[in-house]
Amino acid sequence: MRVLMVCLGNICRSPLAKVAFAAEAARKGVEADVDSCGTGHWHVGNGADRRGVACAKRHGLDLRSHRARVLADSDFRDFDRIFAMDRSNLQVLQARCPPAHRHKIALFLDDAEVPDPYYGDDDDFEVVLRLCQDASTSRLTTSLLRR
Ligand code: 4NP
Repeated sequence: MRVLMVCLGNICRSPLAKVAFAAEAARKGVEADVDSCGTGHWHVGNGADRRGVACAKRHGLDLRSHRARVLADSDFRDFDRIFAMDRSNLQVLQARCPPAHRHKIALFLDDAEVPDPYYGDDDDFEVVLRLCQDASTSRLTTSLLRR
């Protein structure tokens, strides 16, 4: 199962979502190939936000090798599930996704957004990671194919 996490800058939320999901999949013995990207290009090539790297480290996760990339048209073909962190990311995905792949797209949280912590503090990153861990657990507990 190939899973893509999508946010705006690909330096705060989706990198944390990626490592949280990958860790939970490994814990459950589910084979998952997880990547992340952003809908915006401003931070392409940059590492993850240092507050996110520190947050990950506090929870035994490693974001040091992350490099931001932007959403590519080929992603819609190459991934099985594509999760948006917020509704604005979701709208971009829906607008760009070919109809044949639209069933792959969903909000990562069922009916809520992972709040953007960019202008926040360490506590906001903790909330992001907690939400991502909960969403990962729930999606891996039921079925990755859940819509
Ligand atoms: P992310 O956070 O989408 O979770 O990576 C942001 C990162 C950068 C910006 C906005 C959100 N920015 O405006 O540059």
